[in-house]
Amino acid sequence: MIHFSSSVSSLRASEIRDLMSLANKPDMILFSGGMPDNDLFPLEEVDAIYNRLSTKEKQIAMQYGPTHGIPPLLDSLSDYLKKKGLPVNDNKILITTGSLQAINILAHAFIDPGDIVLVENPCFIGAISAFRSYQANIVSIPLTPAGIDLEALEQTLDTLTTPPKMLYLTPNFHNPAGTLYHRDTKLKLIELMRNRSIPVLEDDAYSELYFHEEDKIHLETLKAMNPEGLDICYTGSFSKILGPGLRLGWMLVPEEIYKKCELIKQSIDACSPSFTQMIAHKFLESGMEQEYLKRIRPEYALRAETMSRLLRELLPEGCSFTEPRGGFYIWIKLPDSLDATDILKTAIAKGVVFVSGKTFDPHGIANNHIRLSYCNSSVAKINEGIPLVVDAIRHHQQQVVR
Ligand SMILES: Cc1ncc(COP(=O)(O)O)c(C=O)c1O
Repeated sequence: MIHFSSSVSSLRASEIRDLMSLANKPDMILFSGGMPDNDLFPLEEVDAIYNRLSTKEKQIAMQYGPTHGIPPLLDSLSDYLKKKGLPVNDNKILITTGSLQAINILAHAFIDPGDIVLVENPCFIGAISAFRSYQANIVSIPLTPAGIDLEALEQTLDTLTTPPKMLYLTPNFHNPAGTLYHRDTKLKLIELMRNRSIPVLEDDAYSELYFHEEDKIHLETLKAMNPEGLDICYTGSFSKILGPGLRLGWMLVPEEIYKKCELIKQSIDACSPSFTQMIAHKFLESGMEQEYLKRIRPEYALRAETMSRLLRELLPEGCSFTEPRGGFYIWIKLPDSLDATDILKTAIAKGVVFVSGKTFDPHGIANNHIRLSYCNSSVAKINEGIPLVVDAIRHHQQQVVR
């Protein structure tokens, strides 16, 4: 008999992972993964960056680096974040091994077993797993099309007898819901959270992937608003703006929080890969990231538009979704009588795969949504796959009617 720690005993492989193993046929159409398309990676730019590195830079790239990040990347990232309006001078940057590590480190810093963490419902599965691994008591607040339900949040804050340790949010292009918080929601949220001593973890993995210039007003981050009386722990990532294989992200946090997080990171991996940090530094320093983003935004917008148009035309009555304005996902609400996992099984048999809603329910129950990713499929694959998804939904809808 193996005796695992209580913190890992509750961790389970998700049912989705098991189902996904059925879905690895070579011609399967994948609307499941939240990864960028291989064909869109800036391979030539990365080749050129590496080939132009000096011997000294290559040596830095091959060596261990400081826990908080290699100095050139800290400088170029600092400039990049300043341009996004982030309060870099009043805070500290910690480079992490993907932004999921930043979330995990912050969870480690704040959560004791049984502590309450507030999250949106639905919520990014990686964050749910991180909070669970520290035995958090996860309390969820519904998400509306304009952002977190502020009334529900206020009510929860008023009724909880023990104050939460943290509020975790993804205001810009939510995973899975695709939501972009309205600026007004962000401003009201700040007022609601001010002076409560509850840090807000603002997860900002997708804000560069907007489709409409006019949305920029809503994209300003809570962190950039730099509110007084509220600690905002901001996390970001190179995964969607360069490549997840680099495994690089960051947190921008007040100094006191940074100091603890740096100690935690030391014990996890000492430092993130210097090699990819050097590549990411050159990518930012040369301004290539702006050129690259200009190239990929319209491509993702086209995929989102294609998927949305087909869904508008084909989805049966009772299903609904909000057209995404950026990011990677469409979140379809099904009639309550339908179960997304049943539909997923049928869809896999038809040759298409997506993720069922309960994966993103912090309580693992609500299963009347499906998440479709358009990021990793060509327009041709979207045209081919969406009718199959719709067929699977219709099939189960007819069974309910019978
Ligand atoms: C909302 C959100 N946050 C964080 C991450 C983690 O990204 P990474 O660890 O690759 O930086 C993801 C990845 O899909 C995500 O969707």
